[in-house]
Amino acid sequence: MRIDIIAVIPELMTSFFNNSIVKNARNKGILDLNIIDLRQFGLGNYKQIDDYPYGGQAGMVLMPQPLSECIESLTSQRKYDRVIYLTPDGQTLNQKTVNSLSLLENILIICGHYKGIDQRIRDRYVTMEISIGDYVLSGGETAAIVLVDAISRIIPGVISDETSALSDTFQDDLLSPPVYTRPSEFMGMKVPDVLLSGHEKNIKEWQDQQAFEKTRLLRPDLFKKWQEESDFPV
Ligand code: ADE
Repeated sequence: MRIDIIAVIPELMTSFFNNSIVKNARNKGILDLNIIDLRQFGLGNYKQIDDYPYGGQAGMVLMPQPLSECIESLTSQRKYDRVIYLTPDGQTLNQKTVNSLSLLENILIICGHYKGIDQRIRDRYVTMEISIGDYVLSGGETAAIVLVDAISRIIPGVISDETSALSDTFQDDLLSPPVYTRPSEFMGMKVPDVLLSGHEKNIKEWQDQQAFEKTRLLRPDLFKKWQEESDFPV
């Protein structure tokens, strides 16, 4: 899979991408990740990429020409399955969207900055708009980190124990059951006996029950959705 990211401040992302599961995916040759500095396409001696908005609100807007030239230079080299603009206006990211994106060949991600990007770029090139939550970030770079991290960890072969990604919270619309590691007793608190029993069927039943209970308690909205979509008896 190839992911290209257009960013105003690429350095914000490089450290994360060089020190995470994303790094594993890149080292294994499963993910080809490229960050393109929008400033390269800036106008004039100062490499200008933003300007004041028409209409007079505060803040700056990323100009259409540098973005257009950048996008055209990329799309002339390959066809993208999705051109994603990260914005609080977009559809809220969830695991289903992450799963479907992880199956694609080529994705182009545009990080906004300041007040956002000129609407004409959205109208002409963007095929999908994604928000990572109902709050406003100072730039799309942090959102791109979230999106790329979520995608890369489920590309087959990235995590050595693939079942670990599959049993994640949200992978089946339920929260994950509690997890424990050694020691079996800590500050007087004991790991539930069933987890020490070695009895696989009982352990699975306990984990499922914990997942139901936890979801019912903490995320009744998810639990309701899960109940509606699943025919698993509780
Ligand atoms: N850019 C600014 N805020 C954002 C958000 N909540 N999600 C995605 N991109 C953003």
